[in-house]
Amino acid sequence: MKKHTLAARVEQISPFQVMAVLARAKALEAQGHPVIHLEVGEPDFSAVNPVEAAGVQAILQHQTGYTAATGLPELKQAISDYYASRYHVKVAPQRIIITPGASGALLLMSSLMVNAGAEVLMPDPCYPCNRHFVMQVGGHPTMLPTMPEQDFSLTEQQVKDAWQDHTAGVWLASPANPTGAVLSKEYLASMWRTVASLGGHLLVDEIYQGLVYEGEDFTALSLSDDLFVINSFSKYFAMTGWRLGWLVVPEWAVEGATKLAQNFFISAPSVSQHAAIRAFQTDALAECEQRRQIFSKRRNVLLAGLKSLGLPVIAPAQGAFYVYVDVSEITDNAMEWCLELLEQEHVALTPGADFGVAKAHHYVRFAYANDEDKIRQALSRIGRFMKVNAA
Ligand SMILES: Cc1ncc(COP(=O)(O)O)c(C=O)c1O
Repeated sequence: MKKHTLAARVEQISPFQVMAVLARAKALEAQGHPVIHLEVGEPDFSAVNPVEAAGVQAILQHQTGYTAATGLPELKQAISDYYASRYHVKVAPQRIIITPGASGALLLMSSLMVNAGAEVLMPDPCYPCNRHFVMQVGGHPTMLPTMPEQDFSLTEQQVKDAWQDHTAGVWLASPANPTGAVLSKEYLASMWRTVASLGGHLLVDEIYQGLVYEGEDFTALSLSDDLFVINSFSKYFAMTGWRLGWLVVPEWAVEGATKLAQNFFISAPSVSQHAAIRAFQTDALAECEQRRQIFSKRRNVLLAGLKSLGLPVIAPAQGAFYVYVDVSEITDNAMEWCLELLEQEHVALTPGADFGVAKAHHYVRFAYANDEDKIRQALSRIGRFMKVNAA
């Protein structure tokens, strides 16, 4: 065997383009330039106080060993109760598999449902790691181009036309990254009927659940017990570094998912699990709701600002904390535009190329995980940048 040869599958993974933006932002900051970060895909809040206190308590009480492979029964029960009280859906706790972040859930999902050579359909643009997880198990992600006029969502016709014997399923997200688009219940119900009739699985990534500002905040689990849902403590609960998420599977997949979880993770982080139980109590949820309102205000500021800059936001971006903006009137190379904006005005954005290929060079993602003042400042800097460079 050749020395220093990585497995071929590593070659298939492209590094995030935003890393070049981040590296340059860091260098500018080291020179004393104040960079406004609108590229970061994580809340600018920490976990709410009661959750942090519960985490400290768990450490002091030495609750630091492995837990059951699919998670602490109390946490699974708390999530099941949350689905019942907030979304009026019955989800048996044993169908909930606690994972190290939604990332762990995506790894579990791809291993559970995608054979080598099988195809998974997903919208372009979407969360970049989805296609990489599918590739890692030998599957083929097929990214189908979407349009802002249709909320960047796949049409049923696209799914039917692309479906082949070896197609395993469809992976969607709502609210979505990078577009902030929220799928309607009618849309998902109809898509589920189509996918089920074709004999495939449907995965809905609901990691931004709760962060909805327009439209209905619901769960796809209300449509059927037979589809797969991913969620996480990273976004609504602002616990990115605690590395905790979950996968809801149909009853018939529980045993398989359990076997994989045992082997992949032994268990999700135990301190995080003990702390997360506390996230579902009224005071903690009230704090999360206050934060949602803060995000909502920032969204209004950003959308209004983009409009006054003449940057079109066609899809309404009803959820998450992202707006995906068409910059094709200004540039044919969104990556270069991002780097130039950073250089001249010290505003960091994420280029569309991280999320797909179709028209990606015409888009940039704004994340409003930064305070209102910073968003206003960034907008005025972008306005100046556009004026100077149009001249
Ligand atoms: C759509 C989507 N799914 C999954 C993840 C992974 O999140 P985590 O592993 O922190 O739960 C992210 C992270 O940004 C995301 O945007």
